[in-house]
Amino acid sequence: MNVRSVNFDPLARWYRALEFLAFGRDLERARFCLLDRLADCEEILVLGEGDGRCLARLVQAAPRARVRCLDGSAAMLARAAARLAEQPARSRVSFEQADILAATFPAASYDAVVTCFFLDCFTAAEVEGIVARVAASLRPGARWLFADFAIPPRGFARMRAQIWLGSLYAFFGWRTGLATRRLPPSETILRAAGFVSEAAREFQGGLIRGELFRHRLAPVVTAT
Ligand SMILES: C[S@@+](CC[C@H](N)C(=O)[O-])C[C@H]1O[C@@H](n2cnc3c(N)ncnc32)[C@H](O)[C@@H]1O
Repeated sequence: MNVRSVNFDPLARWYRALEFLAFGRDLERARFCLLDRLADCEEILVLGEGDGRCLARLVQAAPRARVRCLDGSAAMLARAAARLAEQPARSRVSFEQADILAATFPAASYDAVVTCFFLDCFTAAEVEGIVARVAASLRPGARWLFADFAIPPRGFARMRAQIWLGSLYAFFGWRTGLATRRLPPSETILRAAGFVSEAAREFQGGLIRGELFRHRLAPVVTAT
């Protein structure tokens, strides 16, 4: 299945090598640097997992968690499942091929969501919609583990980021049909939706960020 005519299948096999060529281990550092903060989670939603490297670490970092792993690419999901094949943790993971823009989520069910280099596939309006729908499926105080590209505020780092992002969007548009051409302000959107940053790490001069947000959801008090 292709989602919205986006298809990451052709890249699944090469994704890791391409990433290492471009950024060395820094995307992995961003994905993994705050994973241990999810150690006590029991229900985790992973969106756009890709080839399963983060998932494999996540099931170790959160040994009691059941994980719902959603991705639009059959080839990416197959690689993620193969990576877990021999592990007992495999039984705690469910894989689902779906378009995030059409997927449904049960209310107040997850205590963490993980999006690594995923929200950058969408426009700002789409990210707002995703964040709103996913937020409604989180329990009070749930965490959002986020890793993505960022554009530093000024100087050479900003220019370098713009060149990299222009090249990456051109490449992914060509190889996957991705229509998005500019980085959405995902962190701003998360903050506006009530998520508070608890920890953040930067790599490559601020081009790559890993960040942990917590949902500041006040319990709903119903007037009688
Ligand atoms: C850039 S890759 C990131 C993969 C991985 N999370 C990482 O850290 O590198 C984007 C992933 O999101 C998936 N994806 C893109 N658009 C999607 C959509 N609309 N619904 C579900 N998955 C989607 C792709 O199949 C791909 O696996």
